[in-house]
Amino acid sequence: MNKPSKTEKSESFQPGEFWKDNNGVHINAHGGGMLFFEGTYYWFGEHKLEGTIGNTAQVGVHVYSSKDLYQWNDEGIALSVSHDPHSDITKGSVIERPKVIYNHKTKKFVMWFHLELKDKGYDAARAGVAVGDNPTGPFTFLKSFRPNAGHWPVNVLASQKLPISETVKSQYCGGKGCLPDHPDIVNLLGRDFKGGQMSRDMNLFVDDDGKAYHIYSSEENSTLHISQLSDDYLTCSGIYGRFFADRYMEGAALFKAHGKYYLIASDCTGWEPNAARSAVADSIFGPWRELGNPAIGPHSEVTFFSQSTFVFPVVGKKDAFIFMGDRWRGENAIDGRYIWLPVEWEGERPRIQWAAEWDLGVFTSGRNGTSA
Ligand code: DGJ
Repeated sequence: MNKPSKTEKSESFQPGEFWKDNNGVHINAHGGGMLFFEGTYYWFGEHKLEGTIGNTAQVGVHVYSSKDLYQWNDEGIALSVSHDPHSDITKGSVIERPKVIYNHKTKKFVMWFHLELKDKGYDAARAGVAVGDNPTGPFTFLKSFRPNAGHWPVNVLASQKLPISETVKSQYCGGKGCLPDHPDIVNLLGRDFKGGQMSRDMNLFVDDDGKAYHIYSSEENSTLHISQLSDDYLTCSGIYGRFFADRYMEGAALFKAHGKYYLIASDCTGWEPNAARSAVADSIFGPWRELGNPAIGPHSEVTFFSQSTFVFPVVGKKDAFIFMGDRWRGENAIDGRYIWLPVEWEGERPRIQWAAEWDLGVFTSGRNGTSA
């Protein structure tokens, strides 16, 4: 496939190819998310460097803007890493999957991200929050924490409120490999009740009523939490639910279509791709019903070598949603590629199928299937 030159305008999406910004540079916004504000799309993501060091935060969160989703302008670094070694977001920490939402009441842009403290591997499992006056930043880091300390989920079981036995505590050391096949039996929720729940891969979702939700892989990644934010979106409200226990959902992307809540997520296999999952619910706090792998066709078992990061509606087009995924390059992080595909429908099931090149016309030509 011919790649557009620096000056040539692209009017299609070419998943997995080199995606040039207005300077002819490959877009650097991995694990990204999309915000639409006053006629412009803003794409936020992890700024990566060459090599494996690029998997740690050396620069910060990058933001790009676009009016049409094809041409992207580099708007620079929205949130910079800190050069203070005592800062939670010091250079060398891990900042993943940043997402930004706009709060209509406070008129602030609020960014949440998955934060791991420098040189601590993935043990911290925290959520980070930053705030800004403009979509392109600069964002100011506010705090990082484990969500929902001292709060039980709306669907807590009586058994989960019982004290954790010392025997159970000593049976596992954290991390998937050390846990039993069904980690739910060791009550990681109860273990983390006091200090807050682990929060790794994450996303944000704003509902029609303005309530916002933080969706995060918790309990050693084994279980997904959906947690309502405070009205100013700066912290958690303490109202949350836990879903898909023992399913190890990562890269969860929540969206609303046809009045229902949908989720596309992945399994948990590091930088390696795996089969995606999808689910539907009438209420955000469930019950959630799994609908299977939304990907179809060749390489659907590895989601076309990608992992979900976000699903967003195309403004002005009915029932038009774009799946955003990352084709990670763990060994050379900056070379990660973007897999964007239209969400199609087969009855109530969202479907994604490979297209080497496509454009927004698919949403008017009817290729995106029948509505649920
Ligand atoms: C998979 C996650 O989805 C990514 O965001 C990242 O945390 C990698 N694991 C790290 O191995």
